[in-house]
Formats: sequence, structure tokens, C-alpha cells
Amino acid sequence: MAVEHSAPPGPIRLRTRGRDAAPVLPQPRGPLSHAVIDALAGRPPAGAAPATAGDAASADPYGDDLQLALHVCYELHYRGFSGVAPDWEWDPELLRLRGALETVFLDALRTDTGSTRPDAPDPRDAAGARRPGGRGHGRPPEPAAQRPAGEPVPPENDGGARAELENVLDGLLVEPADDGTGVAGHLRDAGQWWQLLEHAAHRSVYHLKEADPHAFVIPRLRGRAKTALVAVEHDEYGGGRPDRIHAGLYADLLEDLGLDPSYGAYVDAAPAPMLATVNMMSCFGLRRSLRGALVGHFAAAEITTAPAARRMVRALDRLGAGPRARLFYTEHIEADAVHEQVLRHDVIGGLLADEPELAADVTFGVRATGLLEDRLAAHLLGAWRARPPRTSLRRPLTAAPPRG
Ligand SMILES: [Fe+2]
Ligand SMILES: [Fe+2]
Repeated sequence: MAVEHSAPPGPIRLRTRGRDAAPVLPQPRGPLSHAVIDALAGRPPAGAAPATAGDAASADPYGDDLQLALHVCYELHYRGFSGVAPDWEWDPELLRLRGALETVFLDALRTDTGSTRPDAPDPRDAAGARRPGGRGHGRPPEPAAQRPAGEPVPPENDGGARAELENVLDGLLVEPADDGTGVAGHLRDAGQWWQLLEHAAHRSVYHLKEADPHAFVIPRLRGRAKTALVAVEHDEYGGGRPDRIHAGLYADLLEDLGLDPSYGAYVDAAPAPMLATVNMMSCFGLRRSLRGALVGHFAAAEITTAPAARRMVRALDRLGAGPRARLFYTEHIEADAVHEQVLRHDVIGGLLADEPELAADVTFGVRATGLLEDRLAAHLLGAWRARPPRTSLRRPLTAAPPRG
């Protein structure tokens, strides 16, 4: 089968490829994404030599080139690309490059969230010497096997990391002043139709595979944490009803708004701040060592979704969107109020009962989620509130040209 590519740069025409259309390779944004996309397409490299893992170190961790290269690597674990052999998923050279890209991205996330690297020396160790197997997040944990199942974690092993996590989660429950300063608040109070469409296009990069990044963590959990996370995922996947799969409800929303519901349709339009939010989930989900961060991210997402969904319903109503667009968000108001409790008490609680040393990683996942969502919000609102307003996408939607 021939490799398919997205359309060359220019305004996006609304296509009706249909929601089952196979994803196509996006357009490269620099040497790293060129190297990945050219390899998958079976093309000779664009330059004298393809970019390699060594080139990743100097890339902007939040930039378009690195984020698109990562996105394309990760998509091989989801739906792949039309005409690209599925076995690229486990190509050693591509995995080596992906690992180098992840290192740059994760280092930036840890630095910018004030999180400790897992291999950093524990400052409480004499002369900074590493303990064998120490994670640098606190005192070595008591092996889970030596504690009866369900017994609370001894405080001396819990350390400040657990208290810090509780503080961070409590902070998420405190609603910020609802003055329309966030993206959903802006759309509710002052947003225009074209901005609503842009928001829907951005978010499609995640919502068309909603819950999939979190499913990767299931085999890495046990007992209470596993049961609880699967219960949440069961809801995300429609609770036994294929017509209620949340990703499908989002495709309905896109159709209702007159947008393209096909998987990956707006990847070329999505700038780095949007891709980064999804790459973070994929990275946390695919790396067993980051299972704590994945759980922290999932909890943060569920805690903050219901209030944002309420604002989005009002935005859709004010702007005259249809019932299929509305349903995606009304579904999340009720569901995520329950999910946040399950995530916090049973998934995080269960995970840390088994593996208390992961508390700092859970906090990292919560903070990284906040950091990247804040960066995305700043990007969106910066574009929409500019004078004159400009598109927040890399390519404007032709059906929705920005109007001042
Ligand atoms: Fe959902
Ligand atoms: Fe949810």
C-alpha cells in the first residue's frame, strides 16, 4: 500500500474523509521530524544524513520539531499510518531516537516542575552517594511483599513526598476564580465561533484516542489500583456501549461543528503546545518506570475536567452548537466527578499502598500536566486575544477564518 501524506502547508480545507479513514503521515517541521517521517515513508533523508539521537540533545524540548517527531513515533503504538509497515513500532533505531527525544522532553518537564530526576542522588545520603536501587525521592521503601496487603504505609517510608502529593491534589480541587481567564471560561464568556472550532480541532489530537494512553498502564498496576483504573477506563470506553465510547462522542462533536472527525485530521494544524500534552501521556503510559507519573496525570485530568466541561457546555449553548457537540461535555460533567474520587482514593491510594516510593512520581505527573496545560492555554489565549486576533493553529481552518 502506498504511503499517504497530509496535504502540503496552506489553509486547511474541511475534508469529509470519514471517521474511519486511516491516519496519514503529517508534514515534517524540522530535521528530527523529517528523519522520522522520511524513514517511515521509505524516502531518502532530506539532508546529507538523517538526524540521529545525538541531534535530539540540542533540540527545543517544547518545540514543533521535537514534539512532532515524538508524536509520530508514538502513533506507531496507536493507529499507525496508512501505508507504513506496523513493524516500525519496534524498530531499534527508531526506538533509540525516540528515547533520546523523550530524555530531552522529560528533563525539561522535571526541571520546569521542580521534580527530582529518578536517578539523582538522594541529598540525605552521606556525601551524595547513591544507594543501590535508590530512586532519590526519599528513604528506601519497605518491600511491598513484607507488608500485609492493604496495610497503611508506615509514615517513615511515606516521607514528605506523600504529604506534598496530597497538597498538590488538594490544590487542584480549589477552583480558580471563575472570571473567564482560562480557555473554557473565555469560550463561555467571550469566545467566537471560529475560536470554538479551533479549540475542538486542537483537542481532537487527544480526544479521538481518549483513554488509550492510560490503558498502557493497566498491566503495570496491581490489586486495588488496577481494579479502580479499569473501572474508570470502562466508562471512558462506553461502559459496554460502543456508541458511548468517549472518543466516538468526540468524533460526533467534530461532525456537529462541521469539522473532520477522522483520526489525526488536525495533527498538521496542531502546534507544539497541543502535541506536548498528548506526548506526555503517551510517554508516561509507555514507560513502566513512569507508571506513577501516568497515574498522577490521569488524576489531575479527571479532577479538572468536570468544571471545565461545565464551562464548555455553556460556551456551546451560547454559540449555538448542536446536541451532539453538547453531549461530549455533559457526559463528562457527571462521569468525571466520580472518576476524580476513584482516581484519588483507589488508584493513587492503591498504587502508593503497594509502592510508596512512587509518591514523588505521582506528584510529577500532576505538575507536568498543569505545566503543559498552562502552556497550551497561554498559546490559545495569546492568539485569540491578540490585536487583531490570530489563529492559534499552524494552519487556519478555512471554514472559520479569524475575524477581528
Ligand atoms: Fe472521557
Ligand atoms: Fe473521565
